[in-house]
Amino acid sequence: MKIVVTGGAGFIGANFILYWMEKHPEDTIVNFDALTYAGNLESIRAVEKKSTYSFVQGNICDVDAVSSVLKGVDTVVHFAAESHVDRSIHDPANFIKSNVLGTQVLLDQSVRLGVKRFHHISTDEVFGSLSLAENTRFSEDTRYDPHSPYSASKAGSDHLVRAYFHTFGLPVTITNCSNNYGPYQFPEKVIPLAITNALEDKKIPVYGDGLYVRDWLHVEDHCRAIESVLEKGTIGETYCVGGLTKDISNIEVVKKILHILGKNESLISFVADRPGHDRRYAVDWTKIQKNLGWSPRFDFDTWLADTVKWYKDNEAWWKHVKSGEYKEYYDRQYNPKT
Ligand code: NAD
Ligand code: DAU
Repeated sequence: MKIVVTGGAGFIGANFILYWMEKHPEDTIVNFDALTYAGNLESIRAVEKKSTYSFVQGNICDVDAVSSVLKGVDTVVHFAAESHVDRSIHDPANFIKSNVLGTQVLLDQSVRLGVKRFHHISTDEVFGSLSLAENTRFSEDTRYDPHSPYSASKAGSDHLVRAYFHTFGLPVTITNCSNNYGPYQFPEKVIPLAITNALEDKKIPVYGDGLYVRDWLHVEDHCRAIESVLEKGTIGETYCVGGLTKDISNIEVVKKILHILGKNESLISFVADRPGHDRRYAVDWTKIQKNLGWSPRFDFDTWLADTVKWYKDNEAWWKHVKSGEYKEYYDRQYNPKT
């Protein structure tokens, strides 16, 4: 099988390529990625010399580049997107371009070239925010109610994917998953940011009261979920994917990281809140469990300890990432002049 992975130099895409090539060595993978600030070929060094892997630098908004890379392809696994909520508050236009228009270009060319499966990676953020007071969860039936330019752009892309299924018969599947964490995550996201700042004895910024809740999904469990959907999922269907977490607040997550590293809680710094900050996410993954037999392998504490160890052992990877553009972004986000 020939698979095009879009965004394979990013966090989840790179983990997916490493996972898939190990489990399915007979398949051919083409990694199509624009190499934005979030794209990092160092994350996929382990496979770059394999004859079944190739990299094509290109933008999903570029019709010619997309049409050329999709020729003769069986399956598209679509990760490429602008993914960080805070950046979407500074620059919404970029999110609409990549996440909405880019997805539409990919869908058009997939129809034209007869792609046999288009799998779209989406987010639980399209469903909006849950209350801390209730024990509710997002499921495949939850109404869309995105609150940030990022989640609105992902919602737009989900609607387009379904529209291409109904209108053009493109064989699609969608997964809406919760917050991922694990190796090779860009340290703008809270878990790698907290781990790497703690390792450098730098302050860890916690937004608002720190009582926001996320549903934590280890990236390997996510890759296994995508594999289940590609192998056993029903065309046209959506599957929600989440972790094995009871509600856990951001401040508790940061304290756990400090505890694992033996660092002092005085590193925690409460900072201004994110505008439109969603209070709570929690995902009901009963459908993918019942229909496809998927469930997460380990609980949060086990995977978190494993993740902290990875960042301790791979300092060269994140130190390189934290130089350059990241520094400018960090100052703009956490030390604004005005
Ligand atoms: P990431 O920001 O780490 O990586 C995104 C990758 O896409 C980068 O390699 C970047 O170069 C590439 N890219 C961006 N715009 C592109 C364009 N126009 N053309 C080609 N390549 C482009 O993102 P991630 O965290 O790995 O997320 C991957 C996907 O999973 C995204 O669609 C995101 O919305 C979704 N998702 C992420 C999470 C999470 O917790 N990280 C959770 C749910 C869903
Ligand atoms: O829910 C899935 C989504 O998870 C994905 O669709 C997004 O691509 C991904 O970025 C992630 O979005 P979040 O906004 O939830 O992730 P982030 O790591 O930015 O923030 C997690 C929580 O931590 C959130 O409540 C905001 C808070 N936070 C974040 C940062 C960066 C802080 O308290 N301090 C910080 O410095």
